[in-house]
Amino acid sequence: MGKLIEQYEQRFSELLGAKHTFAFWKGRVALYAILKAMGITAGDEIIVPGYTCVMDVNPIKYLGARPVYVDIEPATFNIDVNLLQEKITSNTKAVIAQHTYGYPCDMDAIMDIAGKNGVPVIEDCCLALGSKYKGKTAGTFGQAAYFSFQWNKPYTTGLGGMVITNDTKLSEKIKSLCINEMCQPFRKEVIMLWTQLIVYRLFIYPKTTAFAQAIFRYLTKKGVVVGSSSITEFKPVIADDFFKAASCVQGRCGLRQLKKIEQNISHREKMARLYDELLEEKGWPIRQYDESMMQPIMVRYPVRITEKNKALAQAAKAGVELGSWFECPLHPIETPLGAYNYEPGMCPEAEKASNEVVNLPLHPRANEKTVKRAVEFITKFTPVI
Ligand SMILES: Cc1ncc(COP(=O)(O)O)c(C=O)c1O
Repeated sequence: MGKLIEQYEQRFSELLGAKHTFAFWKGRVALYAILKAMGITAGDEIIVPGYTCVMDVNPIKYLGARPVYVDIEPATFNIDVNLLQEKITSNTKAVIAQHTYGYPCDMDAIMDIAGKNGVPVIEDCCLALGSKYKGKTAGTFGQAAYFSFQWNKPYTTGLGGMVITNDTKLSEKIKSLCINEMCQPFRKEVIMLWTQLIVYRLFIYPKTTAFAQAIFRYLTKKGVVVGSSSITEFKPVIADDFFKAASCVQGRCGLRQLKKIEQNISHREKMARLYDELLEEKGWPIRQYDESMMQPIMVRYPVRITEKNKALAQAAKAGVELGSWFECPLHPIETPLGAYNYEPGMCPEAEKASNEVVNLPLHPRANEKTVKRAVEFITKFTPVI
């Protein structure tokens, strides 16, 4: 298993041009490893966008640190850089730059502000594998970056995470944590994950996604399948087996996915352009970004509508794959926001986006027909202009 994971890490390093790479059981575990290796501890503050997944905030809380939320700017859903400086205090120990939906953050501004304050930047590339900012790949700007390979991510190994860094000192600390503190996945969960990947390959297509997701969530609650998140992860309390290594199943699957990564990326670009074209024909707003600055590789195509919940309910019945994230500033909607230091009203743009944004599929199984169907479906609703 060691060799296989090393090979996977090596191949990922080559793809991103990174010196050091570490594979983990999940993306959130990868973030935990970075923060712990940076020495984050009680009383420290970590800056995050107020439009993310709660699983991304858990590692901060697990270490006793405090998440400090910055609102987003509405076009790319990324940190509004105009609000960043005022959130930095003497306790700030890192800024997490999340490249939301695949749009790269304004990295010049983030690196500049963080640099002036002597604060390291960690890039959350979980939704942005291959995106570029001014010709440079997302994940290669900050002190470290992390990726996720969960079901909805740029490629999937069922669950999975990766850290990349060019900082040798940081990488030595991560290595030492892996040797001394990391646990191995249980054989039972690896077998379950392997079975789930087979089921996914055979049966999960855009038309069956909503139905499959409902069954998957039910089975996760019953503990019959390996879910993306266990019930205990909706509280900011670390489980004994949280800091977990990647399994051979993930390594093997990841290597297979990396062989097809160029096709995956060009497919996403092509399908995103088709959404632009079809939505524009219908008079709908399309992606807004400065093409001279960024080349986003989108994980999903976000669209703002006035009746999000109605659309989600109807999509499930119509067999249209429609994503809901992010449902609230710390997805999902069940998150006890107060326990994560989020007070309603802290990030108004993020709250507005949470109420309006649904996302459309771009993954390799979503073909032109899927895109046309998704556009036909979503344009029955009212866009937010
Ligand atoms: C932006 C973002 N970062 C990090 C994560 C955590 O990734 P993982 O589910 O692999 O732990 C998620 C959750 O899916 C996410 O949406």
